[in-house]
Amino acid sequence: MSQRYRVAVVGATGQVGTLMLGLLRERAFPASEIVAFASERSAGRVLQGAGAGGGDLTVQGLDEESIQGFDLALFSAGGSTSGEWAPRFAAAGAVVVDNSSRWRMQDDVPLVVSEVNPEALASHHGIVANPNCSTMQMVVALKPIYDAAGIERLVISTYQAVSGTGRAAVDELLDQSHALLHEREISPPASYAHRIAINALPHGGSFADGEDHTDEERKLINETRKILGDPAIRVSATCVRVPVLTGHSEAVNVQTREPLSPERARELLAAAPGVSVLDDPSAALYPLAIDAAGQDDVFVGRIRRDPGHERALDMWIVADNLRKGAALNAVQLAELLHAQGLRGARPAGTAAA
Ligand SMILES: NC(=O)c1ccc[n+]([C@@H]2O[C@H](COP(=O)([O-])OP(=O)(O)OC[C@H]3O[C@@H](n4cnc5c(N)ncnc54)[C@H](OP(=O)(O)O)[C@@H]3O)[C@@H](O)[C@H]2O)c1
Repeated sequence: MSQRYRVAVVGATGQVGTLMLGLLRERAFPASEIVAFASERSAGRVLQGAGAGGGDLTVQGLDEESIQGFDLALFSAGGSTSGEWAPRFAAAGAVVVDNSSRWRMQDDVPLVVSEVNPEALASHHGIVANPNCSTMQMVVALKPIYDAAGIERLVISTYQAVSGTGRAAVDELLDQSHALLHEREISPPASYAHRIAINALPHGGSFADGEDHTDEERKLINETRKILGDPAIRVSATCVRVPVLTGHSEAVNVQTREPLSPERARELLAAAPGVSVLDDPSAALYPLAIDAAGQDDVFVGRIRRDPGHERALDMWIVADNLRKGAALNAVQLAELLHAQGLRGARPAGTAAA
């Protein structure tokens, strides 16, 4: 009988967790059992039809007893929960795939995108990090260009959807929009520093004291270099939050080391795994957030020569931030781990069913 695994989904009631449960089911991940974890607030809540075979799951709280006996733990419950509980799951024998930023830049934690650097998985010590959503979609599109011509410098402007902030931000955008359209008073902003409805905030992420870049901008810089394994790439990033529900868009200027024509870039991207090229501006064909939402691929269009630099291209990269930007890549990493024999630090004599 082929190997089947006991899987924990931590943050199972959230946007990413819900999608991970759905993808484990849709993609028929070989799970013998899936256990849903969330905060104590949700303990006892029933997630209907969310189990591996379509059965219901009852949400559990995290404690030393409930986390024992797992082969795999998919985390999407924020950095502090990952900081506290990911090492405990790993010590109990599970391989953790973590969606938060908590472990991404740690040297002994691989930061992996399934189409870009799957070989990095082999070096894990119990925790594997899933990159930030904006970085994830960008590197999927950049990898074929990097392999063909190298990358010297990136200048990135993001247009990020509110679902990237969490469910509360989605509700806030919808509430504010509804209030504006019905000429009602708008509640003070809670998820962002300013109103997000019918606005654009040059404040994607948060500013640490004394920092002139947001943490989201730093993630784009640092994570891109780590995933592509090239600390020499120069990255300039501005992250903007826009009133889009799902689907991050990015305008990216790519300065290559070797010359690369837009035509060749288009061919390379069209052949790349996980990428779809939509590029016929004369027919108003280019990637849109509303079309990318619910899709697995990263969409690329508006591929053109930068008139200001003979070795630079401009492009527009769009993907579903909850899917490829988070849940889908986590499940793809689980599939790759399975293909490699999925082994955590489980004590001898307690092998999976
Ligand atoms: N949204 C994105 O595009 C995106 C992309 C990449 C990575 N991520 C990362 O994925 C994580 C979740 O994002 P999301 O959008 O799914 O957020 P969300 O919808 O707000 O869900 C948060 C989840 O975390 C759980 N949680 C909160 N505090 C907890 C605790 N103390 N112990 C256990 N569980 C706890 C929540 O449980 P309750 O329901 O019980 O509160 C809920 O299941 C974050 O780390 C985020 O940075 C998100």
